[in-house]
Amino acid sequence: MIQLPAAHRGIAERLICLHDEIKGEASLMALSRVAVALYDPASDILKTFIHSSDGDNPVDGATAPLAASPSLLQLASTGARRIVNDLGPAAREGRDFARKLYDSGYRSSYTVPIANKGTLYGFLFFNSFREGFFQPPVVQRLRPYAELISLAVMRELDTVRMMQAAVKVIRSVSSARDEETGSHLARMAHYARLIATKMRDRHGLSDEYIEFLFQFCPLHDVGKVAVPDSVLLKPGSLTTEEFEQMKGHVAKGVEIIDLMMRDFGLKSMPYFDVLRNIVAYHHETLDGRGYPYGLSDSQIPIESRIAAVADVFDALTSVRPYKAAWTNEDALNLLRRNAGTKYDPECVEILASCTQEIAAIQARFTETVYD
Ligand SMILES: [Fe+2]
Ligand SMILES: [Fe+2]
Repeated sequence: MIQLPAAHRGIAERLICLHDEIKGEASLMALSRVAVALYDPASDILKTFIHSSDGDNPVDGATAPLAASPSLLQLASTGARRIVNDLGPAAREGRDFARKLYDSGYRSSYTVPIANKGTLYGFLFFNSFREGFFQPPVVQRLRPYAELISLAVMRELDTVRMMQAAVKVIRSVSSARDEETGSHLARMAHYARLIATKMRDRHGLSDEYIEFLFQFCPLHDVGKVAVPDSVLLKPGSLTTEEFEQMKGHVAKGVEIIDLMMRDFGLKSMPYFDVLRNIVAYHHETLDGRGYPYGLSDSQIPIESRIAAVADVFDALTSVRPYKAAWTNEDALNLLRRNAGTKYDPECVEILASCTQEIAAIQARFTETVYD
């Protein structure tokens, strides 16, 4: 298993260090929380991402449509900043985030949109337990820090987007796009996020980890670009030799992402190990009879187990050149029968308990889209 140094684990830790540094300034000691929420333009959803909080972080794992917050919408369109020196009224009006923050003791907030050249990446939130904390001198002192955090967030996301764009190009010139349609990739990534979100507390998964897992899942089969069309698109079952060629997509995938990392200077890409584990181990099974490495049980990283269940479920419930689509029930039954031997039982149980969410994902991604 690949373990990279902490520097590659994203910017959550750096935010915590920076928060400490900010509080080192006498006038900023009462800055109790710094948090970033990301914006997903495809769904118009804001999702919690990273935070550093002196008290509880009451909004972990939360998502909300941007459209539901007129004041944030306004910040997004004007680039203006928002100062709320008394969170009381908003909390009493029942605005979800404000109320949760208020109930955890936060009394004031300062919000900065993270945007560049018309692209909104998300929002940066500063909070204090002290009412009236965000007076002009404090806001002035926070400006360079806000700038620094915004740049770090944009840089981190741009690196991931560049990787995705490169893979999209590779895929578009190969037949792999026919077998692994864009909608398969989108659904699979959403199932993976669903499973990871429900595992978060038991396994200590952060919002940042879940976001990168979600972003990287569509790259799991990048190595299929090296599998010949005659094998990839074969309507019948594969011969032993053809199956060996198909299995080669894993090693090829690892080779491709390692090359991209080296040649595109993506060494600093956050959570690179998560991407690599998904690509390398998504066909490993708990009983050690998967391929290509034959890893078993705890040797298989959690992101690979999650991706495997999400991938198999979507493959079964989709039409492929060699098979019709299974019903969700039949697919879940097969996963259940193989839970503990092939697939991670916890991932399977979680997915099986999410029939409504599965239906919503299937309704949303019926077309071939890869974005
Ligand atoms: Fe695969
Ligand atoms: Fe797949």
